[in-house]
Amino acid sequence: MSVHASTHPLVAHKLTLLRDHTTDHRTFRELTKEIATLLTYEATQDLQLRPRPVQTPLARTNGAELKENVGLVPILRAGLGMVDGVWELLPSAEVWHIGLYRDEKTLKPVEYYNKLPIEPTVSVCIILDPMLATGGSAVATVDILKNWGVRKIKFMGILGAPEGIQFLQERHPDVAIYLAAIDERLNERGLILPGLGDAGDRQFGTG
Ligand code: PRP
Repeated sequence: MSVHASTHPLVAHKLTLLRDHTTDHRTFRELTKEIATLLTYEATQDLQLRPRPVQTPLARTNGAELKENVGLVPILRAGLGMVDGVWELLPSAEVWHIGLYRDEKTLKPVEYYNKLPIEPTVSVCIILDPMLATGGSAVATVDILKNWGVRKIKFMGILGAPEGIQFLQERHPDVAIYLAAIDERLNERGLILPGLGDAGDRQFGTG
């Protein structure tokens, strides 16, 4: 499936501010949200519609409404900062949180929160996580969502490393990936270079 790196000038401008090490936590959160809104426009272009007639003040005409129930799936913690940005454009989307942290030594994801109900309540899921590094967290989340029964899944992030993009595409070739940018590589600690640092710590002031 496809990998979309945004070419929108507003995304490039805001991403540069996000990368800047002097950007404070509050501004970092605002930029994360704004970039998520812009990426939502790009990631929702293939959502299905059904006809919905509408009465204007002057006449009755044909309209449309979204046919699909969308679920947003932020990966805790860092994905949380993208939710409000997506909600700006999809206010009725459900949010289902998945808690994963990366073991510092193995870099493998460890699951610590998952309260999905037995039956899926949405037909499309958009996974939210600013960082696609090794891809382990994204692959684990897609595994969880497919086991839940959702067939249409997208990944929306801010930065992707080539290693993580490749891993996600190998394991789940049906999942389209939407990013603000594709960076150069991972360092020995699994951090994206040149990157923006630790997106969780920079949002929540814990770094
Ligand atoms: C970071 C990031 C992703 C994950 C990416 O989370 O937010 O969830 O690592 O790495 P991967 O692609 O190699 O799996 P982290 O484990 O630091 O947790 P946090 O969001 O709670 O800070």
